[in-house]
Amino acid sequence: MQPIELISITKRFRTAEKGEGEITILSNIDLGVVQGQSTAIIGKSGSGKSTLLHIAGGLDSPSEGKVLCNGTDFATLDDRHRSALRNLHIGFIFQSNLLLEDFTALENVMAPALIAGKKEKECKDRAVELLNRLGLADRMNHIPGKLSGGEKQRVAICRALMNSPEVILADEPTGALDEENAGEVEQLLLDLVREEGRSLLLVTHNQDFAYRCDNVYLLKNHVLTKEK
Ligand SMILES: Nc1ncnc2c1ncn2[C@@H]1O[C@H](COP(=O)(O)OP(=O)(O)O)[C@@H](O)[C@H]1O
Ligand SMILES: [Mg+2]
Repeated sequence: MQPIELISITKRFRTAEKGEGEITILSNIDLGVVQGQSTAIIGKSGSGKSTLLHIAGGLDSPSEGKVLCNGTDFATLDDRHRSALRNLHIGFIFQSNLLLEDFTALENVMAPALIAGKKEKECKDRAVELLNRLGLADRMNHIPGKLSGGEKQRVAICRALMNSPEVILADEPTGALDEENAGEVEQLLLDLVREEGRSLLLVTHNQDFAYRCDNVYLLKNHVLTKEK
């Protein structure tokens, strides 16, 4: 079974300023996220990449079509069950890391597992292991304000991995980083997919990063075209 499958997805937004008008952002898109593979989506700013990723993760709903997460249609679930399914199977990484500013790196990483109802000791052990692995052993008790951009993004990756999700959805995860930190984070994400058999669905502006993924799609004129 594919961890995420998009079937005939169309997305339209109302253009509020113009009253009744609607614009089509995505038109009849099919996309399967394959277990153990990385897939990049490239496309110009405003082409609908973030919209597609949000729909893939059940954060937004399509106007038409359906999204299956481990075989379950997001649309058949109420908000609570949809969040629970997402929390178990999907890890999100955004351009801005969205860490909780008042909590330490360790607490931020533990949060998804605590929400999933796991025991505190178990959460802490896993969070410490992840932070060690991503080179943050001596940064665990820092709040995000005391970390560099690259360190914050590595904390966000740890948080996304906390519940061992089958799929990682990443929206321009290196967009706010300098070249060196971006390179490190890119390599880390690709290694994780390769070593642990996870799937990565990645939106990026960076062509080099995109083409190091197993599959590359271009989003243009509302449709996806396979480039690799
Ligand atoms: N909630 C919304 N309501 C209306 N229009 C939106 C909304 N979200 C995104 N859009 C529009 O959809 C288009 C695609 O946006 P987005 O998915 O963010 O593109 P990308 O991530 O490729 O830059 C843009 O024109 C944007 O203005
Ligand atoms: Mg975007």
